[in-house]
Amino acid sequence: MRHLLSISDLGAEGIEEVMRLTDSFVEVSSRAIPKVPTLRGKTVVSLFFENSTRTRLSFETAAKRLSADIMTFSVGTSSVSKGESVRDTVETIEAMGIDAVVVRHRSAGVPWQVSRWIDASVINAGDGWHEHPTQALLDCYTIRERLQTLDGRRVAIVGDIKHSRVARSAVLAFSALGADVTLVAPPTLLPPSLAGWPVQVSHDLDEVLPKVDVVYLLRMQSERMQEALVPSLREYTAGYGLTRRRAAQLQDSTLVMHPGPMNRGVEIAAEVTALPNAVITRQVANGVAVRMAVLFLLLGSGTGR
Ligand code: NCD
Repeated sequence: MRHLLSISDLGAEGIEEVMRLTDSFVEVSSRAIPKVPTLRGKTVVSLFFENSTRTRLSFETAAKRLSADIMTFSVGTSSVSKGESVRDTVETIEAMGIDAVVVRHRSAGVPWQVSRWIDASVINAGDGWHEHPTQALLDCYTIRERLQTLDGRRVAIVGDIKHSRVARSAVLAFSALGADVTLVAPPTLLPPSLAGWPVQVSHDLDEVLPKVDVVYLLRMQSERMQEALVPSLREYTAGYGLTRRRAAQLQDSTLVMHPGPMNRGVEIAAEVTALPNAVITRQVANGVAVRMAVLFLLLGSGTGR
């Protein structure tokens, strides 16, 4: 495999392979010196045209633990602010000699375009509303860590599905591994069409919560909304927030997940993030090992390029 642009590039078998590789990189990350020479001499560029805290730091940590060199590009301090195009930017960076680019952009499809322009491997770190494959992989890994398997597990993905690349990748990955996915949202926060999505839909969170093994909350992505899609955040929370009262309806073993950044008090109550089954920081921790696995798969196996 040369690029990771979508979960569909991997399929169930590819996801399983990433999970197996992740196991070995979790072991590396637990060592006193969490570093291996696997990608020595390779250069990875993080090319983020949109803000990020965890995804970017996670990829950079992953590359460093594999001994790759990492170049960091920030839009704010680059010639993009002088009007340079994405194509000229990536071609300039490639001319310096690189092996992989990790791309985030507010428009869907940019990582795919970049993969046509350059020879290096391209990893999608989030493109518009489209996909965020490494997030879905770390979510699969986190669920398996606690519940052993996704096969037959019932997962509710709750909230702003419409604007969520996380939801699109998660639906593909969870269902590829055999989970039953239910989207829970007000109709205004669902995509205009769900044709072909392997999901059920509900508008009633209270009815769904007692039945699920995983509740996955999404951030209200106000920066992507052109119009008021919910009457107010208070009313959103009243209908779809995981409040303390609602969390009491969960089974003891049900996992609470969130990709971050959280709006505490909106989609999730602050107290709920501290429950024993809230695995939000495990998601972040596993993100590093999962991204090591992805970098290894694309750059390290010798079969990729
Ligand atoms: C998400 C993103 O940027 O797609 N965050 C992340 O990468 N963990 C989700 C979000 O912005 O709500």
